[in-house]
Amino acid sequence: MTKPTHLSTKEQINLGSFYTADFLVNEVYIMLKKHIDSKNYVLLDSSCGSGNFLHAEAILKSGFAKDSFSKIIGADIDKMALHIAKRTLDSKVILLHKNALHNVARENFATTQTDRLIIVGNPPYNDRTSIVQNHLKNKDSIQIDSALQHRDMGISFLRSYERLKADFICVLHPLSYLIKRTNFSALKDFVKAYKLIGSTIISSQIFCKDSKGYFPIIIALYKRDSRGMDYDYICNFNFKTIDGKEFSLNDFDYISSYIDKYPNKKRVEKSQVKAMFYTMRDINALRRSKTFINKENSNTIFVTKEKYSLYCYVDVFKLFLPHIPYYFGNCDVMIDFQQFKALESHFIMASESKILSPKILQYFRDLLGVHYGYCEKV
Ligand SMILES: C[S@@+](CC[C@H](N)C(=O)[O-])C[C@H]1O[C@@H](n2cnc3c(N)ncnc32)[C@H](O)[C@@H]1O
Repeated sequence: MTKPTHLSTKEQINLGSFYTADFLVNEVYIMLKKHIDSKNYVLLDSSCGSGNFLHAEAILKSGFAKDSFSKIIGADIDKMALHIAKRTLDSKVILLHKNALHNVARENFATTQTDRLIIVGNPPYNDRTSIVQNHLKNKDSIQIDSALQHRDMGISFLRSYERLKADFICVLHPLSYLIKRTNFSALKDFVKAYKLIGSTIISSQIFCKDSKGYFPIIIALYKRDSRGMDYDYICNFNFKTIDGKEFSLNDFDYISSYIDKYPNKKRVEKSQVKAMFYTMRDINALRRSKTFINKENSNTIFVTKEKYSLYCYVDVFKLFLPHIPYYFGNCDVMIDFQQFKALESHFIMASESKILSPKILQYFRDLLGVHYGYCEKV
């Protein structure tokens, strides 16, 4: 979680080189151990960095026997990281200097078609097109097999695991890959061939202590499954967090069922406009963005009289963000529509005055239940 000393900040961002702490590596092996009963698996980390996932101690600590894996393989595009890995890892570990997203086939990873394969690791998740840290991003992209190409390298990596036909995959990646419908679809063949069977959610703050924005990361265990999984499976999945909380997306109703989240100017007549609101993407975006706005721009949502109270609801919801835990960061704003209707005028008043009545405070306690009042720790 400290910056690799051999890389500049720019190189670190472009390679997504945020190495994984031992306690998280341990979580991965503990999760795997619960599901893997036999030996003779080949273990691969195709973006191994300096090899945190491949140390014998890391593997043994979680209860795997010394000879649990018939072969241990690490690959990385960063030669210097591999030098460090070579100095510190057991000499039996096979290290490959390669771009893991190009010419993806088992024979290029020292693995045969009949090997039973487990992939572990923490692949880079760098959205090359996002504006965050844009000035540090390398616009000349590396070569990526056409079936794997996506603007976010992490999605390309997940697709590469499907190409390698791993039997189990246990890796860290942004939770948004699963819970945002467009990302889920972008995983393509991966979701047709794998089922999520284990989860531990952590905050990205673990990797970047000083970062102002943070997002949920999942340690996800996938098993190859001919039926794969659909988005409904994810909505019903019981996610677990590192601090012992549990939730499923279907535990809540969301604001998107009731209002427009994106510009709707083409559909709303100007004469119907009571107010204007800023585009809302998810809870994390709401932390940073405005709510009601006075000046129209390309991100403006027109608010009609009928929907005004619901936008006031979002405005009031924003005041409660400090009580909403990191693991809901990529979810939509939640709502209990019936309770909201009972308190509709309170929400309008609270939004206009920024004074919160005891009834509104109680509403949010009830809405969030065990998740309410969580303080921002990781
Ligand atoms: C988040 S770090 C993880 C390193 C290590 N697995 C760990 O958890 O400590 C991501 C690693 O991906 C490597 N990487 C980035 N792009 C790659 C590519 N196309 N092929 C192989 N490795 C790549 C980086 O060099 C970096 O070491």
